[in-house]
Amino acid sequence: MSEIVFQQGYADQYDLFYGDKDYEAECDLLEQAFNRYGTEPVRSILDLGCGTGNHSIPLARRGYQVNGVDLSENMLAHAVEKAGKEALNPAPIFTQGDVCNVNLGKQFDVVLMMFAVLGYQLSNEAVLASLLNVRNHLKPGGLFIFDVWYGPAVLAIRPSDRVKIIPTRDGKVIRAASGSLDTRHQLGDVRYHIWRLSGDRVINETEESHAMRFFFAMELELLLASCGLKLESLTAFPSLEKPADETSWNVLGVAKA
Ligand SMILES: C[S@@+](CC[C@H](N)C(=O)[O-])C[C@H]1O[C@@H](n2cnc3c(N)ncnc32)[C@H](O)[C@@H]1O
Repeated sequence: MSEIVFQQGYADQYDLFYGDKDYEAECDLLEQAFNRYGTEPVRSILDLGCGTGNHSIPLARRGYQVNGVDLSENMLAHAVEKAGKEALNPAPIFTQGDVCNVNLGKQFDVVLMMFAVLGYQLSNEAVLASLLNVRNHLKPGGLFIFDVWYGPAVLAIRPSDRVKIIPTRDGKVIRAASGSLDTRHQLGDVRYHIWRLSGDRVINETEESHAMRFFFAMELELLLASCGLKLESLTAFPSLEKPADETSWNVLGVAKA
């Protein structure tokens, strides 16, 4: 089980920080992968590490039966609230659980781990437990689609310090991120410091540290294979065409049960 991150302060600002991430386009990309690699029409989707529901909700809107699972109650609370504002039929179901051992007692056509959820599983044991759990929740021939930090690019580019300033109704939110690498354990550590300002006054301050594992292609192939999953494709995120290389910090993987 991974250490719980996405506490309230970070979770409450999550959709604000990633307002520029095009989740609808990512759902288009997922559907492209369903069509290209799926053997059966996709109806049911398990979104592991669903966060605030940014894939689960648009996929439910497109008619899929979606179950979202996340460890963070704070992230799930936002997912439930957002889904509740729409008359979705079928509505997505959100469950608190750990990707390493949650058991929903059924199998799906597709399992997702989007936006580096696999990278939050730091040890080999945790990665293997989560991949085995993915396999157990997939129908034979089902697809596992995920994105992770890609080792060759992380080592070539290296983490840098970044500041993001997002205007809000009454002020702004500032997020400073600084990163370091632990190459022995294939980990990047990103430290976030967040200030919420009303006018010029700081009304809230939060700090969170996210350790993120990065992966290499042959390692992924082996880990997946040992859990009964065959890597079909590894491309530069968000493309299903461009091969992963040392310029692709995030890569998109498609594996088949
Ligand atoms: C970067 S967010 C991605 C959320 C969502 N998939 C998205 O694309 O917006 C990573 C999510 O993974 C969840 N997570 C990390 N480790 C987990 C675990 N072991 N079990 C369940 N959820 C986990 C976190 O709580 C967080 O919501």
